[in-house]
Amino acid sequence: MWYNLYMNKVHRQKLIVGNWKMNTGSADAHILAQSIKNEAAHLEHVDLVLCPPSVWLGLIAENLIMPHNSSNLHLGAQNMHFAEQGAYTGEISPNMVKEVADYVILGHSERVHIFKEDVHLVAHKVKSAFEHHLTPILCVGEDQKDAKSNRLLANHLKQLVGQLTATEVEKLVVAYEPVWAIGTGNAATPEYAEETAFVLRGVVSDKTRILYGGSVDATNAKGFLQKEDIDGLLIGGASLKYKDFLTIAKYADDEVIKLARIRK
Ligand code: PGA
Repeated sequence: MWYNLYMNKVHRQKLIVGNWKMNTGSADAHILAQSIKNEAAHLEHVDLVLCPPSVWLGLIAENLIMPHNSSNLHLGAQNMHFAEQGAYTGEISPNMVKEVADYVILGHSERVHIFKEDVHLVAHKVKSAFEHHLTPILCVGEDQKDAKSNRLLANHLKQLVGQLTATEVEKLVVAYEPVWAIGTGNAATPEYAEETAFVLRGVVSDKTRILYGGSVDATNAKGFLQKEDIDGLLIGGASLKYKDFLTIAKYADDEVIKLARIRK
């Protein structure tokens, strides 16, 4: 489209991801996805990914958001196992996810802290996601605000992406989510997040999309979306309110249009 010509030399499409976590019943999930779908087509400069609980993925995929569709609205899983099948009670495999979704969140801090997933396991899952044509949304972030070390975070990310090819690194989505900011109402400042995103970009590539996540809502989202190295948002609590989610998505869309005008 015309505006792409005036965008960054490397164009990174903005991406807004809703992580519904372990919330919604089937009827709520359907209504939430439907309400977002009704508006998504008007937000053509931004990709939207909804990550409902895995038990509702099939329902939403069949009725509303087909996998591998060519629109800007897609589904993602919140987690998966790396293996294709087997005796892994309670897990879902990349083959299963692929039938109903295009993205998968991996290494979320709740998986790391509550379910004790380690860096090797997460790295294995990320590789497996690519092998099964899924786009991983890989989460990283420091536990405590005063413990932020960009060097440590960069090393951590390096370990997580070490097995990926250069093309896979470009297709990867990284979500910078400071753990202290998740679900606390205490978001990082856009400047704080941008500084880290810049450092993380050094580990991945100019084409890799880097999101911010952690207490994003309709009042603070704009600040993050205006930052050069932040290509979108991973939203938990606020993604359960369709109006808030759409307001944030609209900010992202407006930001792209505004930037294109400035560069024209
Ligand atoms: P939050 O969650 O927006 O509710 O802080 C973000 C996340 O856990 O991805």
